[in-house]
Amino acid sequence: MTSEFTSTILRWFAINRRDLPWRETHDPYAIWLSEIILQQTRIQQGIAYWERFIHRWPTVADLAAATEDEVLREWQGLGYYSRARNLHTAAQQIVALGHFPDTFDDIRQLKGVGDYTAAAIASIAFNLPNAVVDGNVYRVLARYFGIDTPINSTEGKKTFTALAQEQLPQSQASAFNQAMMDFGAIQCAPQSPLCTSCPLIETCDAYHTQRIQQLPVKLRKLHIRERHFTYYYIKCKEQGTTLTAIRRRSSGDIWQGLWEPLMIEDSATFPPIHGTFTLLRKDVKHILTHQVIYANFYLVETTYQPDLPPAFQWIAEADLNQYALPRLVELLIDSLP
Ligand code: ADE
Repeated sequence: MTSEFTSTILRWFAINRRDLPWRETHDPYAIWLSEIILQQTRIQQGIAYWERFIHRWPTVADLAAATEDEVLREWQGLGYYSRARNLHTAAQQIVALGHFPDTFDDIRQLKGVGDYTAAAIASIAFNLPNAVVDGNVYRVLARYFGIDTPINSTEGKKTFTALAQEQLPQSQASAFNQAMMDFGAIQCAPQSPLCTSCPLIETCDAYHTQRIQQLPVKLRKLHIRERHFTYYYIKCKEQGTTLTAIRRRSSGDIWQGLWEPLMIEDSATFPPIHGTFTLLRKDVKHILTHQVIYANFYLVETTYQPDLPPAFQWIAEADLNQYALPRLVELLIDSLP
């Protein structure tokens, strides 16, 4: 039986659904791509990237045939670059499989696809009865049913997943899941939910117990690592061309596969380079998921190519835009005179 909650959510969605470009297709590739892009990205920014990806790589085979560098470049500005690397790997997994996986378990095997994304693709592309549980769903359920179990606890995950699954109408999984996302984003928004125009106001527990601001409950997360980076952007003017030196970041740390200029962590001293040092910016605060970086940017102007570790490559400054750079390095480049 469809609950009052579910039928109200579906009715609301029929009127208020957002027009999103991937909602005009049933192509699982296009839907998968949208879900990966939207994992840590706001919808408006996500749409632009999705359109560029689909335009450049219209099929999963096209994406699989791209180089990782090309994919990272197209991803640039979205952050969390492991998503882009996983996307590329998963495209190759799908091509090797010979078709887009069409069960929850098979979709869940794709690199970069967790429970949430597998449920989203299974339901939206194949209308399979898997409930999605994302931040929007946690909020709507916690408020409507008045549940104060922390959403990021093991028990909370279990409780909310079971509840979402219970409310899911078996034959309308696609509409219900997208309805929950849109309802959470628009009507039951985190900060100023539109309670007075809400079709669920009569039976919303949080509304009637005045706990809209308290719910959902989230446990505070552990420790954020602080790091101090000093960047030295070298501008080497030799015989008419301007060169700069960059290296590719290796694995085992943030920004794997992206490029950056000479960077020294935790250092207050200048590297052994003869040139003019200009401090461009100091203590630029850059926030990542589990780290905060404080960065200083120096411009170093030289008339020779100083000795650098072998990982560095000298490139024409004009070619910098062909390399995938962390957002922080883009800020550095934007601050160049
Ligand atoms: N956020 C992530 N996936 C979404 C989708 N399919 N619809 C709306 N918002 C979303």
